[in-house]
Amino acid sequence: MLKIGHRGAKAHVAENTLASFQQALTLGADGIELDVHVCATGELVAIHDFTVDRTTNGTGEVHKLTLEELKHLKVEGSYIIPTLDEVMEVIGKKCLVNIEMKGRHTAGSVSDFVNMYVREKGYSYTDFIVSSFQREELKIMSQLNPYVRLGILTQASVTQAWEWAEEFSAKAIHPHYTLLTKNNVNKAREAGFKVYTWTVNEQSDIERVKGFGVDGIISDYPERL
Ligand code: G3P
Ligand code: CA
Repeated sequence: MLKIGHRGAKAHVAENTLASFQQALTLGADGIELDVHVCATGELVAIHDFTVDRTTNGTGEVHKLTLEELKHLKVEGSYIIPTLDEVMEVIGKKCLVNIEMKGRHTAGSVSDFVNMYVREKGYSYTDFIVSSFQREELKIMSQLNPYVRLGILTQASVTQAWEWAEEFSAKAIHPHYTLLTKNNVNKAREAGFKVYTWTVNEQSDIERVKGFGVDGIISDYPERL
């Protein structure tokens, strides 16, 4: 079972920062999860929200800000927003990278990014899993790139995730942990899908979903996994 750090090690260090990803590895994570948007100058950047307002000292929509503008912002006082390239430099080939396509119009850039890492930097497609809640991004990725392993995120229904997984040839479903039962995890796995669940922080919940036989857990506390 894979231990995946949510936005790095969100419980310990500012989310989606290089320090948070490093901390996740230090705490024993096998993988990191991060959220990406494409900024105004085309780079993929790691940030959760569509605006910088909550996590930085600035304001504005990520897709309207240039990389230079984003780099001038402070995240929780002393950190900065990293590009996806910078994240890869920090984590090296040490772990699985779960890229969540959070922003709109991200599928093309993420597809190019993963292809480049496989073709030019010695990575394998199995080093990545690309997830999203957004039907449009999943659809575009499935049409653009059959090699990228897709994960279908859902907070609503395992059945719906399963249907989308079949439609988009995804390899995994990523349901919120409260949607899981032993039965639906078994069935999804028997159908050939990996099951990665989120964001599981309490020890009792972690033990329960482990008992269901999930393939991976995404947590703010990777050390609890
Ligand atoms: O990928 C799992 C989880 O990160 C999805 O929810 O809001 O934390 O991006 P959120
Ligand atoms: Ca996420």
